[in-house]
Amino acid sequence: MGSHRFFIIFSLSLCFFLSELPGSFSSSQQQVQNSSSSGFHVHQEIPEAVRLQIQENYVVVDNGFLQLTISNPEGFIIGIQYNGLSNLLEVLNDEAERGYWDLVWSDESTTRKKGNFDRMDGTSFKVILQNEEQIELSFTRTWNSSLHGKIVPLNIDKRYVILSGSSGFYTYAIYEHLKEWPAFDLDNTRIAFKLRKDKFHYMAIADDRQRYMPLPNDRLEGRGQVLAYPEAVLLVNPIEPEFKGEVDDKYEYSCESRNNGVHGWISNDSAVGFWLITPSYEFRSGGPLKQFLTSHVGPTTLSVFHSTHYVGADMIAKFGANEPWKKVFGPVFVYLNSLSDHGDPLSLWQDAKKQMMLEVQCWPYDFPASQDFSPSDQRGHVCGRLLVIDRHLSDENIPADGAYVGLAPPGDVGSWQLESKGYQFWVIADEDGQFTISNVRPGGYNLYAWVPGFIGDYKYDTVINISAGCDITIGDLVYEPPRNGSTLWEIGIPDRSAAEFYIPDPNPNYVNKLYLNHTDRFRQYGLWERYTELYPDGDLVFTIGTSDYAKDWFFQQVTRKINNNTYQGTTWQIKFKLDGVDQCGTYKLRLALATANVADLQVRINDPNANSSLFSTGIFGKDNTIARHGIHGIYRLFNIDIPGAQIIQGNNTIFLTQASSTSPFQGIMYDYIRLEGLPSSNTIKKI
Ligand SMILES: *[C@@H]1O[C@H](CO)[C@@H](O)[C@H](O)[C@H]1NC(C)=O
Ligand SMILES: *[C@@H]1O[C@H](CO)[C@@H](O)[C@H](O)[C@H]1NC(C)=O
Ligand SMILES: *[C@@H]1O[C@H](CO)[C@@H](O)[C@H](O)[C@H]1NC(C)=O
Ligand SMILES: *[C@@H]1O[C@H](CO)[C@@H](O)[C@H](O)[C@H]1NC(C)=O
Ligand SMILES: *[C@@H]1O[C@H](CO)[C@@H](O)[C@H](O)[C@H]1NC(C)=O
Ligand SMILES: *[C@@H]1O[C@H](CO)[C@@H](O)[C@H](O)[C@H]1NC(C)=O
Ligand SMILES: *[C@@H]1O[C@H](CO)[C@@H](O)[C@H](O)[C@H]1NC(C)=O
Ligand SMILES: *[C@@H]1O[C@H](CO)[C@@H](O)[C@H](O)[C@H]1NC(C)=O
Ligand SMILES: *[C@@H]1O[C@H](CO)[C@@H](O)[C@H](O)[C@H]1NC(C)=O
Repeated sequence: MGSHRFFIIFSLSLCFFLSELPGSFSSSQQQVQNSSSSGFHVHQEIPEAVRLQIQENYVVVDNGFLQLTISNPEGFIIGIQYNGLSNLLEVLNDEAERGYWDLVWSDESTTRKKGNFDRMDGTSFKVILQNEEQIELSFTRTWNSSLHGKIVPLNIDKRYVILSGSSGFYTYAIYEHLKEWPAFDLDNTRIAFKLRKDKFHYMAIADDRQRYMPLPNDRLEGRGQVLAYPEAVLLVNPIEPEFKGEVDDKYEYSCESRNNGVHGWISNDSAVGFWLITPSYEFRSGGPLKQFLTSHVGPTTLSVFHSTHYVGADMIAKFGANEPWKKVFGPVFVYLNSLSDHGDPLSLWQDAKKQMMLEVQCWPYDFPASQDFSPSDQRGHVCGRLLVIDRHLSDENIPADGAYVGLAPPGDVGSWQLESKGYQFWVIADEDGQFTISNVRPGGYNLYAWVPGFIGDYKYDTVINISAGCDITIGDLVYEPPRNGSTLWEIGIPDRSAAEFYIPDPNPNYVNKLYLNHTDRFRQYGLWERYTELYPDGDLVFTIGTSDYAKDWFFQQVTRKINNNTYQGTTWQIKFKLDGVDQCGTYKLRLALATANVADLQVRINDPNANSSLFSTGIFGKDNTIARHGIHGIYRLFNIDIPGAQIIQGNNTIFLTQASSTSPFQGIMYDYIRLEGLPSSNTIKKI
């Protein structure tokens, strides 16, 4: 069995072997060397050939590391045999509920609010590619008009790829909607793995986000007590007493795409790791900041490609009746590792991270057999430099250090946040504002950007056409963030998150111990209730010059709890002093929001009871970030004119009313607030 447990060393040469040695292995595996860090680094002396066995109801693939059993023709993963364990997946579950792709869709005939759940059962199985180095399998389902209203109008092609010498397997899928097929909505789509409950107890999604997890039964009645919604459960009598008093909620483990490269589980007693590696998020919806579920009590590991989480219904992909569409989701890599000695099983996480970085280096993969997946030689590259011009900060153009620069399908400024039908390619600009976006699939794109430290969104208006091998240099781009006058005062940091504001300790009765003494304090259950506790007699008042946003600005403007089922809107005040007011001029208030949920934000100045507000959003936002323990949803910027005639020489107060008040989860998070002085040409004012 020892020879079955090679992984990391051979993987180091994976890209090389994939690109240079499609038909022969001989040289690369003999160059395999011992790793300096011993423990889990065992290897196959000679990578074994991948073997395929086709049975009536199952397809079995084996490469010496693992044996994968897939139902035929549905394409459900029902068994993963590895390292002496006959199955890493939960054998107590039905075969369709172990490892599967799924989606939620709806059309005009759907009355159920939540849409139709579909496990995308294949109806046809085909071997796409079979040789000693690689096997690629396809499980398809083809739509035709007799299925109208019954199943989602998509052709589905689920692929599984297993390579020789690779401790895991790849999966990807191609969804296709043909012209003249009916309209439909796609709410979400993902892959789910349900691991063995008796084995996988330790979960890791980041260096500082990993822990032993409660058992699924701990969430059931008798052991768990459902809190404000079914996902959040207080563990009152868990099987392991150490978890007693903690809250379990899968949303405490959500993650932004930019950080969602690897997560999974460790079986402590058999020293086996199960990891979901996503080498690129080009196929995920919503760009780098979109948050997705990862792993959670089950033990469950997900690869979510598209979802409405932390955005709401605006994120649903709506397809018209005459809208041809095709998209490749993945490949993602299911990586398995194990310890060869009696080392610390938790070190498997370190190895999984290394493997993730190797997969990233290999992206775009060149083994997927589908023509719809573009390998690197079909992709193009764009480079340039982004500068920021803000004459109120500097008379020089400022390099957009740390800017997020991305290509996404053509659309309005900021549209990438809600975009899900195409692909997105994002990079971070260096300190000079230089960026190189490599390996972009062919097609037409807009270039979008946002720059930490500055408000607003950049878009380069010309559509950039990417073709195979192109190397486009677009030179210097200049972003001029919204600005009309110098900064009179500001609150927070413009970075699309509310993390810099005051985040309270959780109620000691509702903690997740992982997030005590943690940088992500916001991931605790029930922080919305802390507002009423901290401000029992009156709403928050912030005085410019004396208040400190890190201490005095509660991170979310939520409703006030009056009693069990009654909530009240809240009105926050910003007090500031202004001298030399120009009564004829117009001042500008910039309200950058990190999220909103069924909120109604109204702005008044100096008269809290003024019947008509200076500005009102009306009910907006369905991000649901407050209940999901997030620190942002989608970004929104409001630019509000304040007539000088309404500003008083001396002390002024801006009243921010969040008027919508039927639930504890309504409200907003601010990203940043700024009051600007009067427009003046060529003002250069350092702050
Ligand atoms: C690899 O490890 C084995 C066992 O620890 C050792 O005998 C061998 O010399 C090592 N080979 C190299 C190239 O370091
Ligand atoms: C439409 O699909 C159904 C279900 O797969 C199949 O039974 C039927 O033969 C198909 N009809 C046509 C015209 O292809
Ligand atoms: C995990 O395994 C290590 C060593 O293999 C052992 O010391 C530790 O107690 C185990 N922890 C749990 C929670 O099972
Ligand atoms: C991109 O392609 C479109 C459609 O082919 C064309 O109209 C447009 O001019 C092209 N843009 C550039 C910058 O080449
Ligand atoms: C305010 O700035 C915007 C650009 O951000 C500009 O279009 C507008 O004309 C400016 N308004 C005034 C009054 O200067
Ligand atoms: C958090 O830190 C405090 C003081 O630094 C310490 O007393 C407490 O035990 C820590 N809690 C956890 C869960 O680490
Ligand atoms: C709130 O709920 C608790 C428990 O359900 C109940 O005992 C209490 O009377 C309720 N209070 C109000 C004001 O409705
Ligand atoms: C304020 O609005 C209410 C309801 O729209 C209206 O009845 C009332 O007359 C208004 N008061 C003033 C002072 O405008
Ligand atoms: C203005 O506000 C400051 C600080 O809140 C306060 O000390 C001062 O008395 C106020 N001035 C007037 C004229 O109300």
